[in-house]
Amino acid sequence: MMQAAQGKKAGDRILEMRGITKDYVLGEETSHVLKGISLDVRQGEFLAVLGPSGSGKSTLMNIIGCLDVPTGGEYRLSGRLIAEQDEASLARIRNREIGFVFQQFQLLQKQTARQNVELPLLYANMPEKKRRARVEEVLCRVGLEDRMDYYPNQLSGGQQQRVAIARAISVNPTVLLADEPTGALDQKTGGQVMELFHELNKEGRTIIMITHDRHIAQHAGRIVRILDGNLSEGDIEDA
Ligand SMILES: Nc1ncnc2c1ncn2[C@@H]1O[C@H](COP(=O)(O)OP(=O)(O)OP(=O)(O)O)[C@@H](O)[C@H]1O
Ligand SMILES: [Mg+2]
Repeated sequence: MMQAAQGKKAGDRILEMRGITKDYVLGEETSHVLKGISLDVRQGEFLAVLGPSGSGKSTLMNIIGCLDVPTGGEYRLSGRLIAEQDEASLARIRNREIGFVFQQFQLLQKQTARQNVELPLLYANMPEKKRRARVEEVLCRVGLEDRMDYYPNQLSGGQQQRVAIARAISVNPTVLLADEPTGALDQKTGGQVMELFHELNKEGRTIIMITHDRHIAQHAGRIVRILDGNLSEGDIEDA
């Protein structure tokens, strides 16, 4: 049985953003892409960030995932102020604290399902025997026990996304961070991925899912909307 991220209790505040801004300077022009975003996420939440194209979703995701730095404001993950971390520490945070799931799966094509899932565990220096057992455990968890030695091009889209989800949860990260995880899937397969997210969330896993699709967002326990770089709580119908 997989437990939720180590040392964290349901309801603990794991992500805190205060007044996050992101500006891009292009020549003479500065565009304010994020305009002061504040957000708290607690252990065990399933949060959807819902917004149209160009609203700043991927920009926000890159900041949450420590792939990019904000122009202003404060971001804390597991209590640590991200702006104070050096590159080595950020790399460690990306490996241990965040499990990324992308629209286009982003699997290594020349590696089997097993090898793809093993990669973050290698980076985390998990010993071989434990690593192999963990790879099998998470691949079984996503229902791919009979596909472990398949290459991505031998798998369906839904199966590839399951490999990506197994890879994302392999190190037991603090947050599963997904950007349009069903964007490349048909409705039925997308529904199955949402079912898996529900199950993982029931097991205590914290999920942040970014989407432009209200029907997908409604799978989450909590929805925040992003519009033109501003965040507001709740779906449009609650407003
Ligand atoms: N590197 C950059 N330089 C300048 N502007 C940028 C940069 N990255 C993003 N932007 C601008 O920021 C805004 C938000 O982009 P972002 O990619 O976050 O949107 P999104 O909500 O993810 O959209 P989509 O649903 O289409 O993926 C856009 O207007 C975009 O042009
Ligand atoms: Mg985007």
